Amino acid sequence: MRHPSLKLSGCVFFSTAVLLWGSMQPVSSEEMIHIDRFISPEVCAGCHSEIFEQWENSMHHLSHRDPVYTRVAPFFRQGLTDAGEIEEAESCVKCHTPVGNRTGFPMKLSDDLSKTPEIATLGIQCDYCHSAESITRIHNNGLVLKPGMGKMIRA
Ligand code: HEC
Ligand code: HEC
Ligand code: HEC
Repeated sequence: MRHPSLKLSGCVFFSTAVLLWGSMQPVSSEEMIHIDRFISPEVCAGCHSEIFEQWENSMHHLSHRDPVYTRVAPFFRQGLTDAGEIEEAESCVKCHTPVGNRTGFPMKLSDDLSKTPEIATLGIQCDYCHSAESITRIHNNGLVLKPGMGKMIRA
């Protein structure tokens, strides 16, 4: 059986993404989270193996590492001089590496992406979506996250 929620969440994420595109202020410091709080998808896999396999073969998993993305992205940045355009071209990591962006690195596309912490290279992952507690704004990654509180881990 397909994980119905991944289809649903893809739509939710994409429509949020369209809204996000318009507004590119940086994530505020109180929204920063310590990276150790994120639980690896491998841990969830221990009990949710079927969902893990579906996620592992998905573009959500590859959002940071997909070669099309990593090769295309730098071209968006090339030759720009307008500050707003540069900021927008640098903003790919907000959506494509969201765990990194909410924990401090990478904050922009031209950061050395090879230094991205391992867990953040895993893209749109279990504990990113499932730690969302509320939404402060409908653009620019306005999610209040409580990672590491996965229902089954909380006990
Ligand atoms: C030790 C085993 C175990 C681990 C590890 C685990 N889960 Fe679960 N999870 C369960 C069980 C058991 C249920 C309950 C299934 C049910 O209600 O049918 C569940 C339910 C859920 C639900 C549905 C909860 C609801 O209210 O309907 C979500 C979402 C979930 N887990 C996400 C995660 C995520 C994300 C991780 C990793 C951060 C994770 N789980 C790790 C065992 C686990
Ligand atoms: C606001 C969130 C957001 C931002 C910012 C963003 N993307 Fe994406 N990107 C998405 C979503 C969501 C998808 C999946 C869309 C789909 O499948 O229709 C996607 C898909 C892609 C894909 C195709 C899938 C893949 O990985 O090959 C490429 C390439 C891509 N984006 C490049 C970029 C580049 C380059 C930037 C920065 C200039 C960027 N994106 C900024 C949300 C975003
Ligand atoms: C893009 C966001 C996203 C990602 C990534 C994601 N989920 Fe989900 N997940 C959802 C949504 C949305 C639902 C549906 C909630 C509902 O239907 O009420 C869901 C539902 C679930 C459920 C309960 C319902 C079911 O279908 O069995 C479990 C368990 C679960 N996810 C575990 C995981 C695990 C484990 C991972 C990582 C391997 C993961 N999810 C990755 C968004 C996500």
